[in-house]
Amino acid sequence: MILVFGSLNIDLVAKVPIIPGPGRTVLAPSYQTHFGGKGANQAVAAARIAGPGQVRMAGRVGRDGFGNSAIENLRANEVDTGLVVGADEPTGCAFITVDQAGENAITVASGANMAANAGDLPARLFGPDTVLVLQMEVPFAQALEAARRTTLAAGTVVWNLAPVPERMTREMVTKLLAVTDHLLVNEHEALDAAGAIDLATSSYEAAAADLARAGDLTCIVTAGAQGALAVTADGSRFRAAAPRITPVDTTGAGDTFVGAFAAMLSEGVSLQIALDVSCEAAALKCLKAGAQTGMPMRSAIGSLA
Ligand code: RIB
Ligand code: NA
Repeated sequence: MILVFGSLNIDLVAKVPIIPGPGRTVLAPSYQTHFGGKGANQAVAAARIAGPGQVRMAGRVGRDGFGNSAIENLRANEVDTGLVVGADEPTGCAFITVDQAGENAITVASGANMAANAGDLPARLFGPDTVLVLQMEVPFAQALEAARRTTLAAGTVVWNLAPVPERMTREMVTKLLAVTDHLLVNEHEALDAAGAIDLATSSYEAAAADLARAGDLTCIVTAGAQGALAVTADGSRFRAAAPRITPVDTTGAGDTFVGAFAAMLSEGVSLQIALDVSCEAAALKCLKAGAQTGMPMRSAIGSLA
């Protein structure tokens, strides 16, 4: 069973000619509302690959219209929402600008996500078949607690270190590595994490190898058009190429990778197949606007054929 403990957001997306810098204003013709939040995105991505009844989401939403529709959306995507709890704060909201190259800039107003609590997770959820999926949009201490419980039950912890907090301490990274089995990061996150514990920052490849060894884990780095790299604790390397595509919107591409990877892990496939499938899923996502809309169903993945 895949358990995602993380954020649910509503994304307000404006397409802009150029993402504005500080003090700047740009005009966008309009905006779109999409379902988002790294946690919810990863849950949907996993469910589209793993199928109905395989994914459970845990987290908090506000008791408001955004919260209700975020829950309904997960249900429509065959994700179990029994552990999505109402909170006093408003539902998380992400303000996103996407430029003509499909690149984005995101501000997340966390709201209810900051009330997410590992105490909401019943003990029966944790066992050797549990694949716990975490990100960095709920309180770190709560994510850590969920990871510890998974580790104690001999389950598998997949931690996507995104977004990297403004101040990521050595202590945070050390604790995270200790409970993580698969660390998923992009190039910048790999370098930031390695830097926080005084490891290699010369290249993301070196950072991944150092993080894998330091945490006795597998470190997977997604590198956009360059595909993905996985380095195991003993230093073995695996690579997957990204399919060539012209991106429309990269928002949620990383989440698609993480969700697909968790789905593959729970099926026990090889690391190489998990990487190939996840890279392909992430590329397909980029062909459509919005974090979740383009996330492929299992049948669309050629690597699974
Ligand atoms: O990773 C993309 C997601 O980050 C968006 O859906 C937005 O909600 C932010 O959390
Ligand atoms: Na570890």
